Amino acid sequence: MVYSVTPGPARFVHHPVARAVAAAIGPRGLRRTSRLRREVEGKVVVVTGASFGVGAATAELFARSGATVVLAARSLDRLQELADRITAAGGTAAAYRLDLTSEESVAEFADAVLADFGGVDVLIHNAGKSLRRSVHLSYDRPKDIASTNGANYVGPMRLTLALLPSMRERGSGHIVNVSTVGVMFPVMPKWGFYLSSKAAFDWWMRAVGMEARADGVTLTTFYAGLMHTRMSAPSAWMRLLPGQTPQDAARVIARAVVDKPRTLTPLYGHPSAILVPVLRLPLEVLIGFVYRFLGDTSASLASVVGGRNPQAPSGIEEAEAGHGVR
Ligand SMILES: NC(=O)c1ccc[n+]([C@@H]2O[C@H](COP(=O)([O-])OP(=O)(O)OC[C@H]3O[C@@H](n4cnc5c(N)ncnc54)[C@H](OP(=O)(O)O)[C@@H]3O)[C@@H](O)[C@H]2O)c1
Repeated sequence: MVYSVTPGPARFVHHPVARAVAAAIGPRGLRRTSRLRREVEGKVVVVTGASFGVGAATAELFARSGATVVLAARSLDRLQELADRITAAGGTAAAYRLDLTSEESVAEFADAVLADFGGVDVLIHNAGKSLRRSVHLSYDRPKDIASTNGANYVGPMRLTLALLPSMRERGSGHIVNVSTVGVMFPVMPKWGFYLSSKAAFDWWMRAVGMEARADGVTLTTFYAGLMHTRMSAPSAWMRLLPGQTPQDAARVIARAVVDKPRTLTPLYGHPSAILVPVLRLPLEVLIGFVYRFLGDTSASLASVVGGRNPQAPSGIEEAEAGHGVR
């Protein structure tokens, strides 16, 4: 599969033990795709972030099950390639450019989808922009605010506002929010932009989901654990952990659409969410100490002229330079 990125060391990711651990951690995906076909055949399924990783694998799975898939992302060439492959295999797909950081782009996309298909049956909020960067490296980078909040929060919020009315009017529909189990973890230094934007959309979407449920529109939040995609690839240490492949995650999203549970999380998600407030103080002390020894990505460091930021708190830059773990 050209469009699913499974970074190396692939041998480890696909090792039977790593696969067994990942399956045990979950969440479990849909086993029988015949159930997905019964649910989505002939229906219109919007998949944001369909150009790479989980979104591409999800679009392909849903198209194979008879859905009309609406592929959206910024990389139109990749979406078109995917749409062509789906069509060649007998499926139905259409590619649209969507930049969630642009109000205009979201409005144009929503208008086009409503005009071309008359409405949406399933909306999969999958697009996302990750960022792990020490805050001193973002002092002069307002685009870190725009890219994360746009892709993870404000853009999906605008898209929901544009598509939800037609779903509510029809009295049916399902929304899947691909969130992260990180919002159930203790607050992590360096992940502020990513996790706050994912958490904000999670809260907003849940509030809206409770209102929409009364009109027959249901919501599943998938608090995803590690998935081996382009997003997690820059972190060498993540490549050594067991995680789901894009195809595993697509099966989880399929289960979300078929069974419509309110949440899907790895095994450790809910226990973590319960314990975190109770253990907040010791966890913040411990994590606050450990983070100083963990580095930024080489890309993050390169974003600062000459690799050094004069505003960095003392000690941190040296630690990053010596322990670039991403
Ligand atoms: N990978 C993990 O370990 C992990 C863990 C927890 C949760 N998640 C979540 O899982 C979802 C899928 O991520 P992935 O792992 O498949 O990552 P990925 O391979 O990097 O895919 C991200 C997708 O989002 C799209 N996107 C990014 N910014 C966008 C924007 N401004 N407008 C429209 N589309 C945009 C990208 O397409 P273009 O670049 O073409 O626009 C791409 O198709 C994300 O919501 C992520 O937060 C991932």
